[in-house]
Amino acid sequence: MKFLLIACLGSLVFAQQGPAGLQGPGPFVRDFRANVLREFPGLCFSAITFRLYLENQSWSLFPICGKAECINNGHMNVERVHDCGPQPRNPVLCTIANLAELRRNTILEYPSCCPKYVCPDGVTLEYPTKDEIKADILKRQAAALRAAKLAAATREAAVPQTAPAII
Ligand SMILES: *[C@@H]1O[C@H](CO)[C@@H](O)[C@H](O)[C@H]1NC(C)=O
Repeated sequence: MKFLLIACLGSLVFAQQGPAGLQGPGPFVRDFRANVLREFPGLCFSAITFRLYLENQSWSLFPICGKAECINNGHMNVERVHDCGPQPRNPVLCTIANLAELRRNTILEYPSCCPKYVCPDGVTLEYPTKDEIKADILKRQAAALRAAKLAAATREAAVPQTAPAII
């Protein structure tokens, strides 16, 4: 299922903000056209949880650190994804303030599951550029599509166990 999520991560709108002393580009929020099943118009379908959601309901993207919301923008349903954003390219000089917590808990809700970097004075974290992020996403989408096609082609004749009962 993980490759489906990765395939969903796509557009590139993010905001600079964060508590004092902590660095990072988050929160990282992106809107996608929601997955909608034709039998269930008006509901958002999550390819991660295989569940349907009403407008304004949200769900965890575990095992990825993030959450998604089903939003109606007046024209259509949108899946609003919040995650930790890209990882810094030069984290060596900085420490992760919540490392112990991240290691201790296997299931932390977003945004608690995001690493919080603390850097010495004068050290600024560097993040990939928008073009680099986009290229990386396209590469992962292509890999996810290949994996999905391969899985579909090689799967034994089995009834999907997690799919909702639709015709
Ligand atoms: C969803 O939230 C928006 C913004 O808070 C609100 O205007 C709208 O009425 C809500 N929709 C539903 C179905 O609760």
